[in-house]
Amino acid sequence: MKHWQIERDENALVWATLDRAGESTNALSAEVLAEFRELLDQLDQAPPKGLIIRSGKAAGFIAGADIQEFTQLDSAEKGRALIARGWDLFNRLAAVAYPTLALVRGHCLGGGLELSLACRYLLAVDEPGTKFGLPEVMLGIFPGWGGMLRLPQRIGPAAALDLMLTGKTLDAKRAKRMGLADEAVPPRVMTAAARLLVQSGQPRRKLPLLQRLLNGPLKSVVANGARKQVAKKARPEHYPAPYAIIDLWAKHQGNALAAPEVLDRIINSATARNLVRVFFLQERLKGFGKASDFKALRVHVIGAGTMGGDIAAWCVLRGMTVSLQDQNLERIAPALQRAHALFTRRLREPLRVREAFDRLIPDASGDGVAHADVVIEAIFENVAAKHALFRALEPRMKPDAVLATNTSSLRLEELRGVLQRPERLVGIHFFNPVAMMPLVEVVAAEGADPAMVQAACAFVRQIDKLPLPVKSTPGFLVNAVLAPYMLAAMRAVDAGVTPEAVDEAMLAFGMPMGPIELVDTVGLDIALAAGQQLAGGVEPPQCLLALVEKQQLGKKSGQGFYRWADGKPQKVDASGTALAKVGAGRTAIPDGLAESLVKPLIERTAKLVADGVVADAELADAGVIFGTGFAPFTGGPLKYLSDR
Ligand code: NAI
Repeated sequence: MKHWQIERDENALVWATLDRAGESTNALSAEVLAEFRELLDQLDQAPPKGLIIRSGKAAGFIAGADIQEFTQLDSAEKGRALIARGWDLFNRLAAVAYPTLALVRGHCLGGGLELSLACRYLLAVDEPGTKFGLPEVMLGIFPGWGGMLRLPQRIGPAAALDLMLTGKTLDAKRAKRMGLADEAVPPRVMTAAARLLVQSGQPRRKLPLLQRLLNGPLKSVVANGARKQVAKKARPEHYPAPYAIIDLWAKHQGNALAAPEVLDRIINSATARNLVRVFFLQERLKGFGKASDFKALRVHVIGAGTMGGDIAAWCVLRGMTVSLQDQNLERIAPALQRAHALFTRRLREPLRVREAFDRLIPDASGDGVAHADVVIEAIFENVAAKHALFRALEPRMKPDAVLATNTSSLRLEELRGVLQRPERLVGIHFFNPVAMMPLVEVVAAEGADPAMVQAACAFVRQIDKLPLPVKSTPGFLVNAVLAPYMLAAMRAVDAGVTPEAVDEAMLAFGMPMGPIELVDTVGLDIALAAGQQLAGGVEPPQCLLALVEKQQLGKKSGQGFYRWADGKPQKVDASGTALAKVGAGRTAIPDGLAESLVKPLIERTAKLVADGVVADAELADAGVIFGTGFAPFTGGPLKYLSDR
């Protein structure tokens, strides 16, 4: 066999090790599954005492199906055949007479988890990389190889739907606690533990009675609750897959082949095609981090404000040691508080929270500069202040350290003039809020040192963000495309459309937040300044000027286009009563409003590609999706344009 290594040991246990040829991670391609079928044929002839399935890759267990094969489905028959391939094979695995065990170390996702669920036992290796999940929904499809059948049987339907509808993952300890894994053991004993467990004869843990009822006669209770949850986040016309998952589980025992019309509709949907495309775009962005071996251990951040404080905390969360500098300790304190809250939320265990907090060093005198591999400047948006800082920084820095600015609007060409080695300055432009936004623009000014730009991309990957290389022009990509869109939205308000109607139109289009609420969130003064810089000298919208005049600056001042309470805009409908929830759709929306608002964004994106600010249309689509949340099911602004 090309992809599987088979050993029969002295106890008549068969160890099947998946080591997919020519790839660094395991995926369940057609070939890999065909070989696995052959293996089951062989074992039918000479049944072992037990079968243990494990991975030969350092990277993890199995990442899922081969998504490349998914892009080659051009007919309904092929789609059904792909589902049948895994569904039938894993049913066969689940039915063999000898005990089977999946020994899972590292990621176990999608088809990999479905294979594991078809084994009698699941042994999780407890280490940081081990995670279990069924993320198919994020590609606009469903776990069709038995996941929708077996995960609810294993951990109960509510927990299973939660995993399948969000795509989130579980670590080894939680997998054990929820009953997904039979055991969670440290790496050094995993082989012995697998051998013992597969021969143990131990029965599978049975679901508690209530869970069995919910997975049987009371299915509709769970299904109705799940539909309500999904409806809060995704409209069925944009994202049909989560609704299909609930129906396939509730009405067809998770067997998509029993509902061919659902299967065909989902597998061939434009949403699935576009989300798969977005997945590959994301892989392309990740690839920018691989051009350099640069690895940062220590980071120094200057400016502990909104951005600097959160950037420092994020880098700590990703394992680095970070010194955080500001004018004095009082200015650093709020950032430390926010960091502690972030660590507590993300790491949960007190020991890990403390370890993280120990790696965040308040550093008013800037001693950390001398040891840092990356220095990030995030002080006031002021050229003179940044010049003074750079002059002082450069002589103290390690010669090969990356020097980066987080500036949104200043020209790198102007900022770097004071440096001995101006070519070393790069832009590493984060978005607010740092912990939430996946994209980071890596800005190269004319004549920038390519090694520094590549090192900056590698650093961005190291902290699990997506680097997008852009040229140094006003607004780079993301802010430059947002500006004309927000301007158009405010022009509509000037023309008499209510802010609620404008926002509702764009939510219905598929944006994560309406543009008027976005202006309120960013701050009206900032929006005005950015507009003046990025809108090419056009007259600012009347509504914006009037509110700024009254110092109604949006969320931060409690009043902007909306009144803000408890961090939420208080939206009202035409009759003046508060809307029950955002997007309740009761405001009058003029025909074609969304199209007309999104048009300037699309046109600006195309222009930036033509001008070479971003290298090609694919990367522009990726940047706008991951930087603004632009409706992912459309595949991005330029894909949307070409589809129309
Ligand atoms: P901020 O005003 O919240 O924080 C700036 C911090 O820098 C303050 O704590 C200040 O005391 C400190 N600082 C000023 N001069 C200093 C010096 N010489 N040495 C040490 N500390 C000094 O500003 P914010 O919003 O965090 O912005 C920082 C940078 O990030 C700016 O260049 C801005 O354009 C950029 N940016 C801001 C975004 C945002 O949404 N706020 C988004 C992306 C980039």
